[in-house]
Amino acid sequence: MDLNLKGKNALVCGGSKGIGRACAQTLAQMGANVTIVARSTEHLMEALDSLSDHGNQKHDFLKADLSNPEDLKKKLKPVLESRTFHILVNNAGGPPSGALLSATDEDFLLAYRQHLLANHTLASLVVPGMKKSGLWQNHQYHLHLGQSSTERSRSQQYHPRCSGILGQDPVQRNCSFRHHSQ
Ligand SMILES: NC(=O)c1ccc[n+]([C@@H]2O[C@H](COP(=O)([O-])OP(=O)(O)OC[C@H]3O[C@@H](n4cnc5c(N)ncnc54)[C@H](OP(=O)(O)O)[C@@H]3O)[C@@H](O)[C@H]2O)c1
Repeated sequence: MDLNLKGKNALVCGGSKGIGRACAQTLAQMGANVTIVARSTEHLMEALDSLSDHGNQKHDFLKADLSNPEDLKKKLKPVLESRTFHILVNNAGGPPSGALLSATDEDFLLAYRQHLLANHTLASLVVPGMKKSGLWQNHQYHLHLGQSSTERSRSQQYHPRCSGILGQDPVQRNCSFRHHSQ
């Protein structure tokens, strides 16, 4: 399998720390141009500095709050006017672990917005460009990373459903969907 991602653009959410940052670094090492998404400018800049650019790639960041779909749309849409993302890593920090009975309604709503709604907003915005690029059948990856317990079951329903819906479209049949949320 050819894992050279030269010329491919990756959008890595929650990419300034933890698992997302490791994904961003690996994708950069494989030659992709990487855009990382998170809220803290300080951590975004620090993570950006850690990305390999041995292939003269261009990396950048998008400061956005994944728990706010309107903010995400407002900031991502202008980027998509001039760029297609071939790789989407759906990921964000949290929600925090804790006893179920001490979780508030707002804890659940925040988890729902930050993970499930954000996943859907991102897929809705990014996948049409993947399709138009005409490269779909060769190099399209759409990864859903770990989710925490609060909304894990919802996300686990969403990801296979998303995969199934896209799988009905022959253009997208070779898309690789994974979700590491077992
Ligand atoms: N670490 C593990 O062993 C593990 C295992 C299984 C599952 N998971 C799950 O995997 C996911 C990532 O975990 P992690 O340990 O890598 O987390 P982490 O180290 O806390 O990193 C979270 C990343 O997401 C960003 N982020 C958080 N909230 C955001 C928001 N509202 N909008 C935009 N960006 C946001 C953070 O940056 P900012 O705070 O600056 O926005 C940071 O870049 C979580 O859902 C976690 O539950 C983790």
